[in-house]
Amino acid sequence: MCLIKFEDFYFRYKGNEEYALNNINLKIDQNKFILLAGETGSGKTTLIRCMNGLIPQFYAGYYKGFVEVAGKDTTKTPIADLSTEVGIVFQNPENQLIAMNVEHEIAFGMENLGLERDAIKKKLDYVIRLTEIETITEKAPFEISGGEQQRVAIASILVLDPKIIVLDEPTANLDPLFAQKIIMLLKKIQEEKELTVIISEHRMDLVLPLVDEIILMKEGKIIAHNKKEYIINGKDFEKLKINKPRIYSIFKSLKSESLIQNNIPVSITEAIEILKNLK
Ligand SMILES: Nc1ncnc2c1ncn2[C@@H]1O[C@H](COP(=O)(O)OP(=O)(O)OP(=O)(O)O)[C@@H](O)[C@H]1O
Ligand SMILES: [Mg+2]
Repeated sequence: MCLIKFEDFYFRYKGNEEYALNNINLKIDQNKFILLAGETGSGKTTLIRCMNGLIPQFYAGYYKGFVEVAGKDTTKTPIADLSTEVGIVFQNPENQLIAMNVEHEIAFGMENLGLERDAIKKKLDYVIRLTEIETITEKAPFEISGGEQQRVAIASILVLDPKIIVLDEPTANLDPLFAQKIIMLLKKIQEEKELTVIISEHRMDLVLPLVDEIILMKEGKIIAHNKKEYIINGKDFEKLKINKPRIYSIFKSLKSESLIQNNIPVSITEAIEILKNLK
């Protein structure tokens, strides 16, 4: 089933001459883990803002075309209604955290939806366990680390049972170990709940082995969207000025020296297999 659909969509921020999104056509399916990659300023955050109606409802500008999320037109459906379909975690989650303590923060959205106390308690226990934040539920959002804030932001979204979770550079302010933990947690949640997760992320080494598909953006356009194996072996990826995964750079050199003919692998296990079979 198609969860997100962009059709001939354009968006230009008020005051800007250039379109930040330029003729976007995109379909996102259920139960996928998707990486959104592109050079800085290519429109990743802008694309994400369209997925819960913030564009065009909150950001001033001009748009043409059509965006649908879970069958709902994002220009007409209230942002609050869209947020039960798609949950978005922006780069600095502390700006999204408003309650006195972590438990209240997570319960807040469910209280707004008017859920019963028992149902709230049950869901709270479930997501707190899933995101492994049992030890910080009594703390204030400003008393916890960046990684913990990310987990709380994810938990607050999960309780609303969205079909899609979108994260804009969730690990930008985290050290490598925490970054890895967050990415692994997202993969676990994605598989367990059969959700679609879209993640904009510079740490390609971490995400490449886990994602199903990659969307590439350049200058406001989607230049490629396909299974990761196709994308990383294609010209569009090669030309893009982004941090390439280490595995990519190594195998690209091996290929240019004609030492291997294989496709570029997407995981360490696959890379080891290829290297073992080298004569
Ligand atoms: N709130 C805004 N008002 C006006 N212009 C904006 C706004 N946000 C982004 N832009 C412009 O839109 C274009 C796309 O920006 P966007 O933030 O979507 O890129 P990005 O791919 O997320 O970049 P990065 O990797 O640096 O986060 C840029 O030219 C940017 O300057
Ligand atoms: Mg961005």
